[in-house]
Amino acid sequence: MNLLKSTVGRKILMAVTGLMLIGFISVHLLGNMSVFAGADGINAYAKHLHDLGPLVWLFRLAMLGLFAVHITFGVQLYLENRAATPDSYAVQKTLVTTFSAKTMIFTGLTILTFLLYHLLHFTVQITNPEISAHNLPLDAAMRPDVFTMVVSSFQNVFIVVVYIIAMIALLLHLMHGVSSWVQTLGWSTGPSQDKVTFIGKLLAIAYGLAYIAIPLFILARIVK
Ligand code: HEM
Repeated sequence: MNLLKSTVGRKILMAVTGLMLIGFISVHLLGNMSVFAGADGINAYAKHLHDLGPLVWLFRLAMLGLFAVHITFGVQLYLENRAATPDSYAVQKTLVTTFSAKTMIFTGLTILTFLLYHLLHFTVQITNPEISAHNLPLDAAMRPDVFTMVVSSFQNVFIVVVYIIAMIALLLHLMHGVSSWVQTLGWSTGPSQDKVTFIGKLLAIAYGLAYIAIPLFILARIVK
């Protein structure tokens, strides 16, 4: 089977890259949760990451590849699917599908748009001049003060709204994504499929709420 050309092959690649992206989202969430431990928590975490040096760039390259494959095939399969069913009303009526499954392309593109903004915001640091790499203060241990950068950003209600909309898109995307890769790879059939779908939805809600809690708790001054 030609993985890049056949529909099944591309679905398998989407499932595998999707699973890896879920891995990234899990590690990133755990790292970000260290904001709840205060400046010492997240600044130490960020320093450990930056100290990895060239490995960070290797990791970034791998992430870029994963996102590129996942997004390219996602858009391709969506367009092919749409072209194959121009009058999809009758088909949609008979298919058992969920809101999150039907909206994967839109939630996916929302996440992509967010990601571009997010990288400019926290990695390149050009969207808010007051937190640019030049102005970012050092903490008492002479580490870049990522805590202050994150907290001062999320004291701005507009930034929090953007993040919350994006995290809702992520939650919806994961509602389908966390369980669908198991089915695509043929690892769940029959009655076990319902269980996998249910656990997938629970996990998606947990990821979404945990991510939303970060900007929300900061806006509410519970973290400051
Ligand atoms: C409340 C939500 C989030 C917060 C507070 C947050 C925080 C951060 C911070 C502080 C950085 C910069 C790390 C550093 O260079 O020290 C970062 C980088 C990044 N974030 Fe997030 N993030 C959030 C959600 C997300 C989501 C949902 C995704 C993916 C869909 C994501 C993907 C990334 C990526 C790809 C990077 C770049 C990593 C690198 O520089 O190598 N983030 N994030």
